[in-house]
Formats: sequence, structure tokens, C-alpha cells
Amino acid sequence: MRNIIIDCDPGHDDAIAILMAIANKDKLNILGITTVGGNGLLDNVTKNALKILSLVDENIPVASGARRPLIREIHTGTDFHGDSGMDGPILEDPKYEIVSMNAVEFMYEKIKESTSKVTLVPLGPLTNIALLLKTYPSIKEKIELISLMGGGINVGNRTAAAEFNIYVDPEAAKIVFNSGVDIVMAGLDVTNKAMIMDDELEMLKNKGKISNFVLELLEFYGKGSKEFGFEGSCLHDPCAIGYLLRSDLFKGKMYHVDIETEGTITRGMTLADKRPVSERDKNVYVLLDLNRKEFVDYVCECVTKV
Ligand code: RIB
Ligand code: CA
Repeated sequence: MRNIIIDCDPGHDDAIAILMAIANKDKLNILGITTVGGNGLLDNVTKNALKILSLVDENIPVASGARRPLIREIHTGTDFHGDSGMDGPILEDPKYEIVSMNAVEFMYEKIKESTSKVTLVPLGPLTNIALLLKTYPSIKEKIELISLMGGGINVGNRTAAAEFNIYVDPEAAKIVFNSGVDIVMAGLDVTNKAMIMDDELEMLKNKGKISNFVLELLEFYGKGSKEFGFEGSCLHDPCAIGYLLRSDLFKGKMYHVDIETEGTITRGMTLADKRPVSERDKNVYVLLDLNRKEFVDYVCECVTKV
């Protein structure tokens, strides 16, 4: 059993990742969910997280976090995810409320009181994680791993150089990537390949209200994906959870990765040191490939059993 905290900005793909974790309670013990401004404004993504948990009757504690990046102005993904951050499905108002602590204090308390090390699963900008590591540096000893969706060592999406989560708060990402904590990076190198195709959505039809919710998420999300030139819907965030559950479906390589914070056209770039010989320590396991079909089947199997 792995104790995890999911830090997210739901977010269509965040929602699917959360459902995958809930579907695997025998493997993942979700200590809590924290939210960060990204796909939508903080209040919206926090409400979305509460709505998702209300839909599946899971009263997992939710703590809201950073409204904006450490230094820069907030940059949202509403152009892709809609004004609510998770447009498409119509969900009832949440029946749960957020906890009184903010995300950083909440994560600190949960990690400190955990009887075993905790895995952090950031699925949005890394502002909360950076604040945690800077405010409570000693907490690193209780963090097993950071399995994050973000970056890309060969491609960007918000810009030619940078993936959205890293682009939004490059300074936070730099703190996290240089923290010394073990990192698995589910970046665009693998998540752009983790596409569910339109004909595969059949696996979600008439399988109950949760898979129907996922179907509605992907129907909305798929429109944006196609506008960005993709044949199917990229299951970005599910890769960060998927790796914890089925690492056998993924392939990757260790690299030294650092974050560009000074560049104008390279702001938020995750630069991997690919030189055959380098003095830099290899700090990140970068996911590069996956068995797409098996992964898609697995995601659908998970969400149909929630
Ligand atoms: O670039 C993809 C990432 O940005 C995903 O986490 C998605 O939810 C958005 O936050
Ligand atoms: Ca996300």
C-alpha cells in the first residue's frame, strides 16, 4: 500500500487520474487532495475536485492551495478546459467542503503523521509542492517519490519549448526538480502518446454513471485535443497515477533535468542533459514511451469499476 497526496487543478484529465486512484484503494491510500490554480482559477478547480468526490461519495479531505504562481501572474488553461476548468459534464453542487488548513500546511501535517513515506502526485503547476519543500525542508525525508505530470524533454504544448504545468510556474518547478527528492516525470514525451481514440470511447458507454461522466469529460476534452492537432485525447495526468499502478506499461530513462526560468521563448523548458558524459547527477526518471493500448484499456477498466 502506497500513501499518496494528489495535488491537482481539475481539469478533465486530473479528474480521470483521481478516479483511477480511487479505483485502486487496495494499492493507493489517498491521504488527501490539494488544489492549485492552473487549468482554471483556484476556486473553480477546488470546486471541481469536491464535485468529483461528491459524485463517487468519497469524502477524501481537500485543501486548497496557491491561487497563483510564486512570482508570475496566473495563466490558466480555460481556453482548453473551459471557464469552469472542467466544462462539459454537468455535476451537482458538492456535498463536501474543503478543510480549514491551506494545502501546504495540510500536506505537511499529513506527511508528518503518516506511518510510512508518502508519494506526492502533482498534476498541475508545482507551486504548492515548491512552497511545501521550501517551508518545511525536513519533510523531504518523509517523501518517497514525486510522480508528476509535467514538462517534456523533446516537446512543449503551451509553447514550443514548455509544457503547461511547468510554463505556469517555472520557478516552482525549478525548486522541485532541484530538491533532491526522487522524481518520475510523466511529461509530454509519453503523455502525448497516451491517447484514447474516439472508437475506444465505446469501452465507457453504458457502464454506469462514473464511466458516463468520464465519457462526457473526454467528449469535451477531445474537441480541444483535435483543435491542437491530436487524433485522440491525450491522457496526460492519468500517466502520473498510471505509473504508480502499472509501471510495467511504461519505459523511461534517467536524466539530469533542470528548468529554464530566465528565457523568454524558453520559459518553463525542462532541459534534459543528453550528453554521453555529464557532470550533472541524473535526478529524474523521464517516461518516454508506453504500451498505449494496454494503458487505455487499463484506464477504462479503472473508471468503470469505481
Ligand atoms: O499539459 C498538460 C497538463 O496541463 C495536464 O496536467 C492538464 O491537466 C493541464 O493541467
Ligand atoms: Ca492537470
